[in-house]
Amino acid sequence: MIRAWAPGRVNLIGDHTDYTEGLVLPMAIDLGTTVEVQLEGEVVRLRSDHQPEEAVVPLDIEEPRCVEPPWARYVAGVVAELRPTIGARGTVTTDLPIGAGLSSSSSLQVALARALGFDGDAPSVAKLCQRAEQRAAGVPCGIMDQLAIAAGVDGALLFIDCESLEVLVEYLPEDLAVVGVHSGVQRDLRTTPYTTRRAECAAVEREIGPLRHASLETVKSISDPVARRRARHVVTENARVVAFVQALRQARYVDAGELMTKNNSLRDDFAVSTPVVDNLVAQLQATPGVFGARMTGGGFGGIVVALCDAGADVQASVGGTRFRPSTGVTVEVTSG
Ligand code: GLA
Repeated sequence: MIRAWAPGRVNLIGDHTDYTEGLVLPMAIDLGTTVEVQLEGEVVRLRSDHQPEEAVVPLDIEEPRCVEPPWARYVAGVVAELRPTIGARGTVTTDLPIGAGLSSSSSLQVALARALGFDGDAPSVAKLCQRAEQRAAGVPCGIMDQLAIAAGVDGALLFIDCESLEVLVEYLPEDLAVVGVHSGVQRDLRTTPYTTRRAECAAVEREIGPLRHASLETVKSISDPVARRRARHVVTENARVVAFVQALRQARYVDAGELMTKNNSLRDDFAVSTPVVDNLVAQLQATPGVFGARMTGGGFGGIVVALCDAGADVQASVGGTRFRPSTGVTVEVTSG
């Protein structure tokens, strides 16, 4: 038997920057997905504790997006990218909430790729699983989720440069805690304007060149007001990631919190928030012990993430879950 475990991820700052090769600061969390399999046969057959129907995927699957039941598409995406020569039979268990913005699908895919024997380094497994997710969901996601899940380090935030795929380890100071509070709105990137935002950024880049290297001066020269706002979010968000890392290194937690809170950029310039999320962010910001809060991941619902004083019992006032920065994917042979 082979058992692989992969974490979920939460992003502290740097959203909608990965697919223009920008900067992000996620961490792998202590909730995740376990895939336990025996390698045998000519299909990948998995039962999940959260799904009524099992996933049965032939090794020569061509169109992961057409597979039923829908959760099996994520399995099919990995099989289509990895092309294992032997099948597998086993189980999937998870303690990650689905559709909460904690990357439950990437967690499943990275665990499965490792369980089926993929042994490339973290950027390689992340790239494989990014393609697998794109094929499964039909959404052109970036690489942040898969790379955070593959490269997680116990106790650390991951300062990722999505251009070079270099991951710098930034230990979370012991006097800080990361808390996630669910907005109550489930989301799915397939039903949000994620693909539109990505296309808008690509159109801007055709006009002014890579957003990663664009200045605010150049952004101001963009004539279309919507395109200008989208570009302004990306350029200022990359700068906020750098400033946030510096603030943490210098224990300027109030400054770090303020940088997170500038979520009017995600709300107004990038238009990926919702009133429910905005209200929760405002409620968290007004809570003693919270330095800053913001939507995280794709937006339109899911978890709101808060940077908190580790000594304050923020959960007593607002609920939510305290996430501990976790190691990335692990794999072990349990018998046989
Ligand atoms: C989703 C995508 C990521 C990233 C975030 C926004 O989680 O899967 O690649 O683009 O949205 O930061």
